[in-house]
Amino acid sequence: MPSDVSKPSEPKPEDAKPAEAAPVVATTTEAAPATAEATPVEPTPVEPTLAQPVATPPVAEAPAPVAAAMPEPEPAPIPPRQGSPLNDAALDQLFRSARTQYGWTGAAVSDDDLRGIFDLMKWGPTSANSSPARFLFIRTQSAKDRLRPALSSGNLQKTMLAPVTVIVAYDPKFYDYLPRLFPHTDAKPWFTSNPELAQETAFRNGTLQGAYFLMAARALGFGVGPMSGFDNAKVDAEFLSDRGWKSNFLVNIGHGDQNEEKPRGPRFWFDETCLIL
Ligand SMILES: Cc1cc2nc3c(=O)[nH]c(=O)nc-3n(C[C@H](O)[C@H](O)[C@H](O)COP(=O)(O)O)c2cc1C
Repeated sequence: MPSDVSKPSEPKPEDAKPAEAAPVVATTTEAAPATAEATPVEPTPVEPTLAQPVATPPVAEAPAPVAAAMPEPEPAPIPPRQGSPLNDAALDQLFRSARTQYGWTGAAVSDDDLRGIFDLMKWGPTSANSSPARFLFIRTQSAKDRLRPALSSGNLQKTMLAPVTVIVAYDPKFYDYLPRLFPHTDAKPWFTSNPELAQETAFRNGTLQGAYFLMAARALGFGVGPMSGFDNAKVDAEFLSDRGWKSNFLVNIGHGDQNEEKPRGPRFWFDETCLIL
């Protein structure tokens, strides 16, 4: 259901601003196994791009989409590693000092930066490895102008000024890719035979991947500003309908201006929201 674009925007900051998150700090070798180990062994990517529309034929006689049939090089095995806690600087950067960003320093975000965020995000788990999230990176003025009419008034200015705005979307027909992504089982019929399960799986796991994206961006030192205050139907019609994808939420990415941060909101205590049974 489209977001209510008339929902009130969030209040502007009034108080002193908390300290900015610590800069990226290289952690111990044990603390950063994914990037340290995964990056060198990543195969030459043979991946669908936004320039390659995903076929959206009827479920019953859906041929495998072009991208689903693309050969995927076998990734080199990543050595198993024992997990250990990240150091405090890393935990601060990801969580404790990290703030939702509403203003930007003007520092650029390159295409390579976006690829770096994606290449961390993609390792986050999804059910049946379905990976239903899709990402549109809106950076040019013309693309921003296409996005503008869908934005709530409170989200307009910060989005227009952000170096990049991401449309976090999902592919309702993610199951076309399961023969490639989950090859050890014939999982596609689980979803083609059950449209409700397919929709639930696409939205749940697409949202998870959106969250992984936020944390991957923070891990690489970027500030993020997620937003649901926009008209999903307008975004879908303007950007996604040709591929059959659906918008979930938006994320501004850049280097945050801490002067624009809002006062930190409280969080629940453990005992208010958690049960250990
Ligand atoms: C899914 C999602 C949607 C959000 N939508 C909006 C929005 O439309 N506009 C806005 O100004 N902030 C939006 N926010 C920002 C939240 O209000 C903010 O992340 C929350 O208050 C926590 O702030 P903090 O990270 O600085 O502690 C959204 C956050 C999330 C995760």
